Amino acid sequence: MGWLSEALGSSIGKKFVMGFTGIGLILFLIFHLVGNFTLYGGPEAFNGYVHTLDIVKPIIRVIEVGLGLVFIFHIYNGIKLWWENKKARPNDYKISAKSKNTTFFSRTMIQTGSIVFIFLVLHLATFWWLFNFSGEPHEKGDAYYAIVVEWFQIPWYAIFYVIAVILLGFHLNHGFQSAFQTFGWNHKKYFPFIQKLGTVYAVIMALGFASFPIYFLFFYGGN
Ligand code: HEM
Repeated sequence: MGWLSEALGSSIGKKFVMGFTGIGLILFLIFHLVGNFTLYGGPEAFNGYVHTLDIVKPIIRVIEVGLGLVFIFHIYNGIKLWWENKKARPNDYKISAKSKNTTFFSRTMIQTGSIVFIFLVLHLATFWWLFNFSGEPHEKGDAYYAIVVEWFQIPWYAIFYVIAVILLGFHLNHGFQSAFQTFGWNHKKYFPFIQKLGTVYAVIMALGFASFPIYFLFFYGGN
């Protein structure tokens, strides 16, 4: 297995890990956003959706472990890549970083990624924990929706969500095209399309996820 860790530890290997795990996370976010849209259908629709997920809980658990590993690899590799790049150009960073190959989004991946990470820890410690381990929802049967409403009516929590998912959009805007580039799908003719597709994807994710805290904080009148 020495060859494997050596290959993954090389610079291009790390980029491949970022690309693969990044694409896994891109797909996960699409499913997550679509599922969350049931919140707009009211308590019955959302609780029904969560109960459906409950039926296939063993499968969900396997997916969660996979997702956890993907996140860990993605973050660990991202920090290492960032650190190696920083070491490679310590002093002329400000000048070379703004060369024509970089954008605001690519230069801020470590910052936007770090905020998204803090968001994720908070998100899992609240929603995911309460949904899975508080015991409460299972007793009441229909409390999932109520948990979401309760948390999103806390202003700092809802506003932090909005800021974090906008930064997630920045992160995805560069991450999407970067993953494609790593796999060599950067043909002159098609790459501008990939870049546009990445931006469309990032904007949909940011606006879609931001819509929930905004709705429950400002527009929700009770069901
Ligand atoms: C802002 C709107 C969002 C809402 C309303 C929301 C809601 C939820 C809920 C209710 C759960 C628990 C599901 C369950 O265990 O049955 C959950 C889990 C999770 N969320 Fe979110 N989420 C949002 C945004 C995000 C974002 C932007 C990310 C990633 C950056 C994310 C990543 C996750 C992960 C990794 C889990 C655990 C895996 C799972 O059980 O599906 N969520 N979310």
